[in-house]
Amino acid sequence: MDQIEKRHSLIKSWLYEAADLLRESFNKELEIKEKTSRTDLVTNMDREIEVFLYEKITAHFPDERILGEESVGHDIRDLEGIVWIIDPIDGTLNFIKQRANFAIMIGIYEDGVGHLGYIYDVVRDELYFAVRGNGAYCNDRKLPMVEELPLSEGLVAISNRLVVADADEARRIAKNSSGLRVNGSAGLETAWVASGKLIAYIAPSLAPWDIAAGLVIAEEVGLVYRQVTGEKINLLQYNAVIVANRYAFQEIRNEWQ
Ligand code: IPD
Ligand code: CA
Ligand code: CA
Ligand code: CA
Repeated sequence: MDQIEKRHSLIKSWLYEAADLLRESFNKELEIKEKTSRTDLVTNMDREIEVFLYEKITAHFPDERILGEESVGHDIRDLEGIVWIIDPIDGTLNFIKQRANFAIMIGIYEDGVGHLGYIYDVVRDELYFAVRGNGAYCNDRKLPMVEELPLSEGLVAISNRLVVADADEARRIAKNSSGLRVNGSAGLETAWVASGKLIAYIAPSLAPWDIAAGLVIAEEVGLVYRQVTGEKINLLQYNAVIVANRYAFQEIRNEWQ
């Protein structure tokens, strides 16, 4: 991939601009719509941020494809060439209910290989990012490689969907770890595993836009980010995933029924 430096500074400036739009929206009433269910919501701001990023990307990189959660690229059937995978607000329910604990996410892939990943925690002003082969960062701080700690040494985040679908599994994980957390943003939870705040993140059904940015960041700090079967992530479908250091990943897999 060319123009890495240019891409990096552009993306950072877009994320900061988009974050301003989100912060401004905190004082306004949101338009909220149901997508597939009472807990699957979209707001005018999810759409506005996706359009904002779409317009910036197409203006600067007109030949590159874009897959976004809310409206663009849902006809994409392969990952040939350069594909931008964006989640305008990861943690929409948190955005609506808490005005916090959500992130803007961008991943850039070339022929299926992740090159750049961005997870911006707007309220904490923490930008997690990674450039393939150059490590991962939180703002200016380079993140160290993760240690191969056992599950018993750390906090595990799981998605709400796992609790609802498989309470036994959730209970086993809680027992074997230092404790369970359900934070509601796949991106932030992945960023927190990458930065050592959590030891693992487990989710039974993540979309490509939930995964793309975090996968680049996770791999740069030596995490395993794979399907629960052990197979590689497929960014053209939903995946049941585990993000963890190699040791904890195996512990979780051994427990998985
Ligand atoms: C959701 C969040 C949530 C996860 C869901 C995702 P969204 O993304 O990441 O934590 O459990 O599976 O769909 O819809 O808020 O962008
Ligand atoms: Ca959503
Ligand atoms: Ca998401
Ligand atoms: Ca989203």
